[in-house]
Amino acid sequence: MKLPASVNVLLLGSGGREHAFAWKIAQSPRTARLYIAPGNAGTAQEGTNVDLQPTNFGSVKQFVLNNNINMVVVGPEEPLVKGIWDFFHEDNEIHHVPVIGPSTGGARLEGSKDFAKAFMMRHGIPTAAYKSFSKETLEEGYKFLETLKAPYVLKADGLAAGKGVVILPSLEEAKAELRNMLDGKFGAAGNTVVIEEFLSGIECSVFVATDGKNYKILPVAKDYKRIGEGDTGLNTGGMGAVSPVPFADERFMEEVRRTIVEPTIEGIQKDGIVYQGFIFIGLMNVEGKPYVIEYNVRMGDPETEAVLPRIESDIIGLFEGIAFGRLDEYELKISPRTATTVVCVSGGYPESYAKGIPVQGLDTIPSSSTVFHAGTTKKGNTVCTSGGRVFAVTSLGESIPDALAKSYAAVEKIDYEGKYFRRDIGQDLLK
Ligand code: AMP
Ligand code: GLY
Repeated sequence: MKLPASVNVLLLGSGGREHAFAWKIAQSPRTARLYIAPGNAGTAQEGTNVDLQPTNFGSVKQFVLNNNINMVVVGPEEPLVKGIWDFFHEDNEIHHVPVIGPSTGGARLEGSKDFAKAFMMRHGIPTAAYKSFSKETLEEGYKFLETLKAPYVLKADGLAAGKGVVILPSLEEAKAELRNMLDGKFGAAGNTVVIEEFLSGIECSVFVATDGKNYKILPVAKDYKRIGEGDTGLNTGGMGAVSPVPFADERFMEEVRRTIVEPTIEGIQKDGIVYQGFIFIGLMNVEGKPYVIEYNVRMGDPETEAVLPRIESDIIGLFEGIAFGRLDEYELKISPRTATTVVCVSGGYPESYAKGIPVQGLDTIPSSSTVFHAGTTKKGNTVCTSGGRVFAVTSLGESIPDALAKSYAAVEKIDYEGKYFRRDIGQDLLK
């Protein structure tokens, strides 16, 4: 099976990641029509935005049928964890339309941390030692915490909008947090809590495209999660990204392939999981050895905004390989250049912030940078802010400083009240 020569694509999502996907899809000579649901002011430059919620599967189906869509590409995790792949697969009217993303069984690698940890243990994949607890086993949870050294890592099992991981400096605080989580601090997501050993090292994000048996490792990236410079303050969705990552050199990536990627793909097959999408492996480099911190079943945001600009080969061909079990035939071409992306956020983010603020300067961006929109919307002819992360400004360069200089020059051109960005993206990699 193949896609037709020219393809109508429906892309689900509305962030910077989706603008980057839309930008790359729009460049393909094979793209006929591109729709983005619901999209943002940036995706509207690449295709047609559709007012449709990605988790409303019934409406997605109707749109696919009415518009002769040949492929659905899923950006965020929520529709995947809620079963969009299975929904399409089980419906006779749409089961011929490939969905780029894992089945519900595969999406559990992100939807349940307890499932992901058990998967890693079962398949011998290096990760922090752990145990899981529920309300009934609270006392055992306390005892397990007593066997660990500070700091203590507690994770709500289910999706908690990126907030479900808590790291605590003392045993007393860890015990109190365990009780709070099991008492519903994160709702049902915290009915089970994973407690794990703290790993010390530097993190990076490895992206793998797979059809369930063949795989391609995409460019590696590093993101910057905290709001403040020097990695201080609250966690955010991500304040910037760099690709490639100097410490993730050939030796390290070979170790990642051998000890993590191959066992993960083999594990998926052994467990009978259907997986036709992206695996995002959050890794910790512990003294040169990679450990899995988490799996996500989608691409990262803002990493995608630094990864896709380095992919030179056609993305529709990549999706075709993923969807039809023929990824081995796809020739992935990666640029050796460095990509950096700097995220501009709304003042106050990740706590409360204003929306609807007009943005100026977007028509003055130098051609050496690409502005991917995240939280934006159009009011008349004016682009306005509509979210915490507003733009991701990407540039390619010959080195990290070269790419960063371009990204920051472009960031300076963007003007809206309350604009904030980190000035230290990539600096830790230059030491
Ligand atoms: P996660 O949502 O699983 O990515 O966790 C959020 C962040 O918590 C990660 O990006 C790490 O910085 C940190 N983290 C998670 N697990 C551990 C661990 N076992 N040891 C140290 N840091 C961790
Ligand atoms: N940048 C981290 C994520 O997408 O989860």
